[in-house]
Amino acid sequence: MTALVHKITGLLDAAAPDLATHLARNGPVPWRRSAALVGELREAGLTGRGGAGFPVWRKISTVAEGRSAVVIGNGAEGEPASDKDHTLLVRAPHLVLDGLQLAAEAVRAAEVYLYVPIGPAADAVRAALAERTQWDAMPVTVVTAPGYFVAGQESAVVAAVEGRPALPADRLELTPRAGVHGRPTLVQNVETLAHTAQIARYGPAWFRRRGTAEEPGTFLVTVSGAVPRGVREVPIGVPLGELLAGATTGLRAALVGGYHGTWVSDLSTPLSRKALVPVGGSIGAGVVIALDNVHCGLKAAADVTRYLAGQSARQCGPCRNGLPALAATMTALADGGGPDLPERARKLADLVERRGACGHPDGTARFVRSSLAVFGDEIARHQRGTCVARSGR
Ligand SMILES: Cc1cc2nc3c(=O)[nH]c(=O)nc-3n(C[C@H](O)[C@H](O)[C@H](O)COP(=O)(O)O)c2cc1C
Ligand code: SF4
Repeated sequence: MTALVHKITGLLDAAAPDLATHLARNGPVPWRRSAALVGELREAGLTGRGGAGFPVWRKISTVAEGRSAVVIGNGAEGEPASDKDHTLLVRAPHLVLDGLQLAAEAVRAAEVYLYVPIGPAADAVRAALAERTQWDAMPVTVVTAPGYFVAGQESAVVAAVEGRPALPADRLELTPRAGVHGRPTLVQNVETLAHTAQIARYGPAWFRRRGTAEEPGTFLVTVSGAVPRGVREVPIGVPLGELLAGATTGLRAALVGGYHGTWVSDLSTPLSRKALVPVGGSIGAGVVIALDNVHCGLKAAADVTRYLAGQSARQCGPCRNGLPALAATMTALADGGGPDLPERARKLADLVERRGACGHPDGTARFVRSSLAVFGDEIARHQRGTCVARSGR
């Protein structure tokens, strides 16, 4: 395995769709005892790659304290600008399944699930599972994830595994303590699981060779917009401009962290949680949408806000009333409406925040505030009846 340590640097260069190539490239599942894996993940500093960036070792430790635990690999990827989980599941299903088995071993799971959308990802996973029955300690049940934005939120994932509609819900207890049918439940993004497998194979020092000291490792990023859409694996801390090298037009800003993310106009900003704190951002689930100089930022912001308003489950007040009002305000702003609109949008963002059963209103509020801050000059231009992209409005 030592020779491999020097060749493999991340997930995509270890990817192999079939078991024979996967075993030749990566070897078998590197089984661990719970304490060993938790210690290695802690030393490696692995954080979740599904959006919130929570330390993985801590969640596994909490779930391992309970009995009859459930483990779920979350490959829902409801974010429309994200392809990274799909790419990983199709190109490297065995890496994800290795990580799922290791997580199951670590928490002494009684049941293991993989939550993926119907299509090529589910097909790849089913084919991979059929190949590895003799290797796996735990059988894995594949559960279908619907294709809407909130279907991958943790409580929606739990609901789907319980056989209910995949909608977020207010939960009195945290999922690691009481998730599926009240049992301790580990929900981990599929990329997080693949990194877990590679840390178990090659060790924390290998993982820490890339990324920053505070946020080690690589992450998968889906780039789109003013650059050709694709999935790249980069070290955490890579400057935004380096990630977007290859753009054929001048770039105005990039939406970092997906539709719940924030606009970043300084392209020298490193893509790390720490560096994005000053602009209220985060790397989220690794989605970067580049905006060039000839498209209107306000129109892009209005389009995203309308999409987000349409994606809520309309179960809670902020989503039923607040998000549609926010979407209408952002649309009116993009259409060159009155001077009171930015303040109205800010007030609506304040009103919806922390009032939903899940983080959807908060993510939408964050996106709107960031749009108002970064496109301040465009707001002024629109109110004068002009636009950087007259045709784009
Ligand atoms: C609206 C919303 C949608 C989400 N969608 C996904 C998703 O598609 N996939 C995912 O892994 N996490 C998603 N998350 C984050 C999950 O709630 C959860 O934090 C994550 O699956 C935990 O895995 P991780 O710790 O490995 O990142 C979403 C969160 C929110 C608020
Ligand atoms: S806050 Fe919105 S998206 Fe979340 S559960 Fe309530 S209605 Fe659904």
